[in-house]
Amino acid sequence: KSVLIVCGGCSPEHEVTLRSSSYVLDHMPSETKSYIWGIDRDNNGYALSAEDIKRNSCISSAIGAPSAYLRRCQGRVEFCVENCAPIEIDIIFPMIHGATGEDGCLQGVSKFFGIPCVGAGVMGSALCMHKRVTKQVLMANNLPVVPFVFSQSFSEVPSYERVVELLKSENLFIKPAGAGSSVGVSDVCCHSEYVKAIEEAFCYDREVLIEKKIFGKEIECSVLNGKAAEILGEIEPTHGFYSYEAKYLDPNGANFYTPARITDQQANRVRVMAEQVARILKCEEMVRVDFFLSQDDTLWINEANTLPGLTAISFYPKLLELSGISGVELVRSLLEGALK
Ligand code: DAL
Ligand code: MG
Repeated sequence: KSVLIVCGGCSPEHEVTLRSSSYVLDHMPSETKSYIWGIDRDNNGYALSAEDIKRNSCISSAIGAPSAYLRRCQGRVEFCVENCAPIEIDIIFPMIHGATGEDGCLQGVSKFFGIPCVGAGVMGSALCMHKRVTKQVLMANNLPVVPFVFSQSFSEVPSYERVVELLKSENLFIKPAGAGSSVGVSDVCCHSEYVKAIEEAFCYDREVLIEKKIFGKEIECSVLNGKAAEILGEIEPTHGFYSYEAKYLDPNGANFYTPARITDQQANRVRVMAEQVARILKCEEMVRVDFFLSQDDTLWINEANTLPGLTAISFYPKLLELSGISGVELVRSLLEGALK
């Protein structure tokens, strides 16, 4: 089979997508042939090599790669590279985190072209990309989500004092509704920080969420084809919270514990709930569900990531690996899932 890995894109997670794509490429089963379609920040496509994505942190015409596009022609989906014969593609592997790759757009194009696509479909992707919609769907199914308020316009944002009253907490998280990797996210505990954080979050989305900060443990669970991995992960940020810097720039940004330092009974609750979340949000194929376990033993769902980071430091592949599913088995299982 021929697999087209699609990476880059216009979201602020552009750089992370290249690292994740490298992982996919390095773990591609030997029976498959892979091609890489790199999308620059202006949506131009290029045919990239493995070296291109390992050497560069950003896709642009400066890489010097040939331009490339996808077309459907006489019942086939073809990857057309400048000055080359078209290549027939059997599966699309979206590896664009955030807008256009994780939100249902690329999944919709695949469906429109009639080509199998790895991971969640259009609805699951769109649901999970929007943090408020995710929460509302989970709440409607009696699942516990971190308490929040939201605003769709800067001029209508409730005051810090009002939010403190509503959420019964002075410690808050401010997030753009539809971004990933903690881009645009701040934690605040006073009025002046609050106003700055709201402004920052609105740079990334037209809707902003204000959440109660939960004190306790941050737990992550990998779900692959409907099944939660046995081993759970715990993140303990070393400063503030698990920000973009702590994730990808500062090697000492967080301490990681695998398995998570929780009881077997708590771990069981996390796994059962993660599988429920995957079913309800229609992303059983692949999802990393993030939780908070508060000091009073309450479990809160934070969010569901349908194209979780697959970088060398990412929890999604690591937790599966520790549970007995190797990187190659993971990629093979995703490809098989797409073909079903
Ligand atoms: N959005 C990043 C890639 C993650 O969830 O891992
Ligand atoms: Mg996320």
